[in-house]
Amino acid sequence: MLDPLAGWRAEFPILDTCTYLVSHSLGAMPRRAADYLQQFATEWSSRGVRAWHEGWWEIGRTTGDLLAPVLGARRSTISMHQNVTVAQAIIASCHRYDGPRRRIVMTDLEFPSNMYLFEGFRRYGAEITYIPSADGMRTNLDAMLEAIDERTALVPVSLVLFKSAYIENAAAIVEKAHRVGARVILDVYQAAGTVPIALESLGVDFAVGGSVKWLCGGPGNGYLYVRPDLACEIEPAIAGWAAHERPFEFEIGPLEFAEAPERFQSGTPNVPALYACRAGYEIIREIGVDAIRAKSLMLTRRLMNRACDAGFRLNTPDDDRERGGTVIVDVPDGAAVAEQLIARGIIIDYRPGAGIRLAPHFYTTIEEIDRAVETLIEIARPTRVKM
Ligand SMILES: Cc1ncc(COP(=O)(O)O)c(C=O)c1O
Repeated sequence: MLDPLAGWRAEFPILDTCTYLVSHSLGAMPRRAADYLQQFATEWSSRGVRAWHEGWWEIGRTTGDLLAPVLGARRSTISMHQNVTVAQAIIASCHRYDGPRRRIVMTDLEFPSNMYLFEGFRRYGAEITYIPSADGMRTNLDAMLEAIDERTALVPVSLVLFKSAYIENAAAIVEKAHRVGARVILDVYQAAGTVPIALESLGVDFAVGGSVKWLCGGPGNGYLYVRPDLACEIEPAIAGWAAHERPFEFEIGPLEFAEAPERFQSGTPNVPALYACRAGYEIIREIGVDAIRAKSLMLTRRLMNRACDAGFRLNTPDDDRERGGTVIVDVPDGAAVAEQLIARGIIIDYRPGAGIRLAPHFYTTIEEIDRAVETLIEIARPTRVKM
């Protein structure tokens, strides 16, 4: 079978050295990321401080604009931050927790950072409701919708859950939240670059994510989307001089907020990281997330079928419409099995309470999937129950 995306493999040096199935954690580095980092170094060494006015100061905005189509967002809606935690904190700081609307509602399967951050807001009056999952894989949607009410300020929710790759029914959550006046922060980290996203048509208030995983953009880049009509109304308490309408006037006293996306910018942009991520963003845009998703579904289905045939239990939804780009295989002694797989050049990871996470991306081949499952069988063949 001819794979139209096979040509991209040459752009990712690590693929020559191992079977790289860990893009849900750290996407492979594109060759041209090194060129962009060199460009940064050249500008720094040759232009010095003048570089700020030759593109560096605006690099958050230009990077956000490069990413926007991948997220189904328009230009000027995305600001860049160090990571999801910081981006989420900036949004949390736009809200109050000392009135009747002080509740945060989220599933207990949420990424821990999203919990830890809001736990800290209890000191400002926030109340947190965790909705227990019934199966450890999916959000209990009915209970979640029921819990979102007039007391709810924010609903942080991952579009794809990190533990099971379950795709959340974000539309239902946004609809209920808006009906009662609450706002939704969609964490698209485990989706962006492998699952199509349409932030604007979803009508979600905020979205956060980062570049490390499926976007192949490396560390140091979190992004924050704010719904355009909301962006001009809200003001973060976590703000700095880069959020000022006239930052270079260095005015004293209260901040006069710039338009979006700069008003969500805290201080000096992380220039080298923003150079590095450009390569991954460009490649994902060039291929298109629809094409990536089609290949991902073909490869994850093959992986799942083979793993099931071998008797492994999967901690990932079986329905393609409910599953992101990762397949999670439950094996006893998962940490040790993961170590052995890595020692044999099959790069995956292990999460306690979930299992071995394997993630094909657009650069993965069918042969690599088959090799990974065969090696997994060799290391951890399940003992079948005799009938
Ligand atoms: C859904 C999700 N959100 C957030 C994070 C990480 O957040 P941060 O960028 O703050 O490290 C991860 C994984 O690392 C994740 O899977």
